[in-house]
Amino acid sequence: MCGIVGILGKGDVAPRLVEALKRLEYRGYDSAGVATVVNGHIERRRASGKLGNLAGMLQQAPISGAVGIGHTRWATHGSPTEGNAHPHATDRVAVVHNGIIENFRALRRELEAEGAAFASETDTETVVHLVTKYLNAGLTPQDAAAATLSRLEGAFALAFIFRGEHDLMVAARRGSPLAIGWGEGEMYVGSDALALAPMTNRVTYLEDGDWAVLTREGAVIHDEAGNRVERPVKVVSVSSVLVDKGNHRHFMAKEIHEQPEVVGHTLSTFYRPMTETVELPAAPYDWAALPKVTMVACGTAHFACAVAKYWFEQVARLPAETDIASEFRYRNPPLVKGGLSIFVSQSGETIDTLTALRLAKEQGQHIAGIVNVPESAIARESDVLYPTNAGPEIGVASTKAFTCQLTTLALLAIAAGEARGSIDADERKRLTRTLAELPRLMNVALHLDEVMGEVAHDLAKARDVLYLGRGAMYPLALEGALKLKEISYIHAEGYASGELKHGPIALIDENVPVIVLAPSDELFDKTVSNMQEVMARGGRVILITDKTGAERAGDSAWHTIVMPDADPFVAPILYSIPIQLLAYHTAVAKGTDVDQPRNLAKSVTVE
Ligand code: AGP
Repeated sequence: MCGIVGILGKGDVAPRLVEALKRLEYRGYDSAGVATVVNGHIERRRASGKLGNLAGMLQQAPISGAVGIGHTRWATHGSPTEGNAHPHATDRVAVVHNGIIENFRALRRELEAEGAAFASETDTETVVHLVTKYLNAGLTPQDAAAATLSRLEGAFALAFIFRGEHDLMVAARRGSPLAIGWGEGEMYVGSDALALAPMTNRVTYLEDGDWAVLTREGAVIHDEAGNRVERPVKVVSVSSVLVDKGNHRHFMAKEIHEQPEVVGHTLSTFYRPMTETVELPAAPYDWAALPKVTMVACGTAHFACAVAKYWFEQVARLPAETDIASEFRYRNPPLVKGGLSIFVSQSGETIDTLTALRLAKEQGQHIAGIVNVPESAIARESDVLYPTNAGPEIGVASTKAFTCQLTTLALLAIAAGEARGSIDADERKRLTRTLAELPRLMNVALHLDEVMGEVAHDLAKARDVLYLGRGAMYPLALEGALKLKEISYIHAEGYASGELKHGPIALIDENVPVIVLAPSDELFDKTVSNMQEVMARGGRVILITDKTGAERAGDSAWHTIVMPDADPFVAPILYSIPIQLLAYHTAVAKGTDVDQPRNLAKSVTVE
């Protein structure tokens, strides 16, 4: 994640840009920079390392200018050097960016063929050269920015300033959050309201696909189709800003919608888009030599491990076992000598998981941790840490941490597969590309929010619900059932579709909705036959599939939710979105306390 900020001010803005960036340092701080328009020209100052280095540089070499943008970076494309630091610029335009431009390689090839000279390894620089190309073709800055946005694929937030334009800024949001601040004769943009708090408490959160043209008089906002739209101006209190729900009613909703951004951020921890490689931290074990991997966790984190079992076995041909920590620690299993035990935990403090870690360590296992809190106990006691960069997860029901755990585990399976020779470089590139598409696909899936709200009204009347899935979608069925029951208090169970006939089908009648998770993969036809068994007994099916699946299943389902097409490898991560939205909206319909459900705690630190 990176932080971006922009100010259309009355006086020199560089010092205020740095102040705003300080409030965004939680998003990343391995390099930073600012750019302003001074006497019609673009001036830049960039520094690697912490924000203090930029502040020091500005003291030595200040820049004036009353319109400017700033950026604090968490390296995604390209190492954290000054040359890769934002803002990126030509003599015509400067840009700051948060997120992933998925099609940057093709755009870079096109622009280099037309003579563009790239100075960095970043995807952002393609944006700068594309805007410049359109400006040189005679388009106005607004039209050049709009033309550029129409060429970009991915999930991102952007802010642009232009040579010769002392009262203009363009900002765009697609998948990564961006807010507009309204001042007195000044205007601002920022990754969140926290960055804008010292300057204004009047904030507009751009909706997905929006782009805005700002002058000191205000902002004209357009939707993705280019239609002018009005978005509400909210007055945010300083206290709420610190734990900002943005435009959302609950933290869980905000965190569900943050997933394109934070999954992209987690990807960037280990995935190098320029080389399409997975770069892992040094470890005292060699994936090629590992005899087995054992994954241990609780709750939702355990279901992430259960999905990863399929990946380690199928991609890396590595024997993989997973167990819930509260069972693992008492069954005292004979762990394979020289094996790797991975402990997955959002909080990093779950006592069952921590105790299981200590048991594995006593048996001489290599210990790895996948946690969302880097300074937690599990992080500290692991030999190697693979952090999920989901940011603080406030809602008790785990959502963005889950998909970031899955993303991290998927990257580990790819790296293990290549190390063990079970996949070649081409397959590694193919699999990593399917992961790189995730932020965009998740952002598309989030547009199902309204539809899921409608389905939830039907589901909220149920007393019992069944979730079915096959293969790696089976653990997702378990997760879907957990999400529903823990926030809506409706009893739900997840089952392997193939198990239906071995008992659970006795539950089926018109009062027990069945949620079927079935992308049109090689197991789809078998799942459709399970669906028909359910419907033949009066059961009502909510089918979550893709376009091909919907066509092959026909229109006999009670509800059919059509997801964007995705490679089966990433389907379990992508299909987390609809099951999270369904649980969320059902709980809202039931009026339960979505963020703090009864009897639960965010981290179970006692047995
Ligand atoms: C997730 O929605 C639940 N709140 C719960 O199962 C959680 O996943 C479990 O307690 C593990 O927590 P951890 O990831 O912090 O270890």
